[in-house]
Amino acid sequence: METVLSGIRSTGQLHLGNYYGALKNFVKMQHDARCYFFIADYHSLTTHPDPSALHGNVRNALAEYLAAGLDPNVATIYVQSDVPQVAELSLLLSMHAYVGELERTVSFKDKIRKHPENVNAGLLTYPVLMAADILMHRATRVPVGKDQEQHLEMTRKFARRFNSIYGVDYFPESLPYNFGNDLVKVPGLDGSGKMGKSEGNGIYLVDSDKEISKKVMKAVSDGGPTEPHQVMADPIQNLFSIMSIVSTPDTYSYFMDKYNSCEIRYGDMKKQIAADMISVISPIRERIVEIKSNDKYINEVVADGASKARESANATIKDVREIMGIKSF
Ligand code: ADP
Ligand code: TRP
Repeated sequence: METVLSGIRSTGQLHLGNYYGALKNFVKMQHDARCYFFIADYHSLTTHPDPSALHGNVRNALAEYLAAGLDPNVATIYVQSDVPQVAELSLLLSMHAYVGELERTVSFKDKIRKHPENVNAGLLTYPVLMAADILMHRATRVPVGKDQEQHLEMTRKFARRFNSIYGVDYFPESLPYNFGNDLVKVPGLDGSGKMGKSEGNGIYLVDSDKEISKKVMKAVSDGGPTEPHQVMADPIQNLFSIMSIVSTPDTYSYFMDKYNSCEIRYGDMKKQIAADMISVISPIRERIVEIKSNDKYINEVVADGASKARESANATIKDVREIMGIKSF
């Protein structure tokens, strides 16, 4: 059985793109593999978040992931800083990470270009800490987006180097987890190809019904087709793509027929999309509110996750210390 590990940034709220593009796959995947999901709060310290906001961000992220369907009885869900063993593994791995290769990492170069006032050592060793997260549980699969592929490649490099230096076959190859046909791309409703946080066009899982309606009704469209089966402009294609995600196939075909016969009224189509989107989002939003108000539940989930993650972490640390020659007296 594969061991899958996914690190979650603790900043920001989840939008529909995250939900359909990642979360729904995670929810399914948790039943098919040994899964670890964790909130990467140590990593977030590289950008110096406000200490009074950090805990709340972690808690919000947890509530959103749980509300969307990650099940603490099935997967191991934990907070990175609850497993400080990862810091030790990161230290041990850093002994064989070369400064030159860390300096050449694209994400590091990006960060120092954008924030020359904050070039801290944590940023430089970010990929080592990430490798420690992954190798800690000897994960064989890691679902990552494009921007994290290089980090995963470095994880494999560190693992191979460790195995070769110490003449062991200890760390596995951590490969990307590809959802293949399940990969869904959620478009933006502002005519852009992708819904994203940085694109500023997100429809969020915590948005109220009214906010959702407002965002959908404002979606970019055009004057409508003037001849049957007219080629669609990008924003209209986006409307249909999002409809194919949130609405039933019958609804989709109904509006597609209307488009093809030049009888479409985008106002009606948007109303339908908004209603279907609300029926996806509102139950999740209600669960987020419910979970966030239940300290006891969150505390139990976190404590239980930490204990399961530490068990796996302790076993790895014990082995790695021994392989590197650290013995207890
Ligand atoms: P953002 O910064 O917009 O929140 P990230 O780049 O952090 O998104 O991506 C987090 C996860 O959500 C990744 O697995 C990514 O593939 C997925 N994701 C983000 N936006 C979309 C989208 N519009 N469609 C499909 N998947 C998406
Ligand atoms: N760097 C990842 C991101 O920015 C988060 C992360 C930290 C991670 N450790 C990880 C992802 C381990 C996968 C595996 O999204």
